[in-house]
Amino acid sequence: MKIALVGYGKMGKIIDEIASSKGHEIVARLSETPTAENLNNPDVVIEFSQPEAAFINIKNCLELQIPVVCGTTGWLARKAEVESIAEANTTAFLYGSNFSLGVNLFFALNEKLAKLMRPFDEYKVQLKEIHHTHKKDAPSGSAISLAEGIMAHDARYNAWKLEETKGAELGIFAIREDEVPGTHKVYYRSDLDEIEISHTAFSRNGFAQGAVIAAEWIIGKKGNFTMKDVLFS
Ligand SMILES: NC(=O)c1ccc[n+]([C@@H]2O[C@H](COP(=O)([O-])OP(=O)(O)OC[C@H]3O[C@@H](n4cnc5c(N)ncnc54)[C@H](O)[C@@H]3O)[C@@H](O)[C@H]2O)c1
Repeated sequence: MKIALVGYGKMGKIIDEIASSKGHEIVARLSETPTAENLNNPDVVIEFSQPEAAFINIKNCLELQIPVVCGTTGWLARKAEVESIAEANTTAFLYGSNFSLGVNLFFALNEKLAKLMRPFDEYKVQLKEIHHTHKKDAPSGSAISLAEGIMAHDARYNAWKLEETKGAELGIFAIREDEVPGTHKVYYRSDLDEIEISHTAFSRNGFAQGAVIAAEWIIGKKGNFTMKDVLFS
């Protein structure tokens, strides 16, 4: 498989190592907007750049009918537009707020727990995410996915907010600490006790490995996908 890496920072470099070790060819390593010239005719683009750059990067690749696997977070207000562009160009787009197998299992566990807790109003739910101090967006894309998973099953909440709240918003605490790759916790707290589920990434390798698996999977597909389609369908 010929892969173009759009965004060549911490994630791009690890993806390069993992994809190369699996025998894939890296035909471009870009830290700038992709174009027909600098992409070098890849089978697939893996995009891990910056929130401000993601939309135009993805749009350019999809308009060249190149499938895109995107892990950049913090740009999701324009995701519906990107999905229309993928459909209009009969190509494929996959966004993952988190590509690791463990976090995707954790997302499924989060939804099961939200269903179980639905009848018990005495428990209030809150989220906490901890990431390294270089992270540009807050809350993390994975914390937003967890909040969406809870809101799909718990009618008390209709939106999330970046702090503790008492109303119809789900509070998310975002903590920035040294070099933490990514920790997510979901708490259900009553006056009597607390239930907590938690996922801790030990390194960025799990995210990078998942992104390469998604890129292998998306070749030949048409439409818009998530990691659920890759791992659980
Ligand atoms: N989905 C996941 O599993 C997952 C995991 C880790 C990180 N992330 C996200 O991926 C993104 C990248 O993370 P990182 O840790 O590699 O960040 P990073 O800051 O180390 O790297 C970002 C790179 O993008 C490059 N860049 C800047 N402008 C660009 C442009 N216009 N086009 C292309 N590249 C450009 C920068 O030069 C930099 O090298 C962030 O949004 C982060 O939150 C997602």
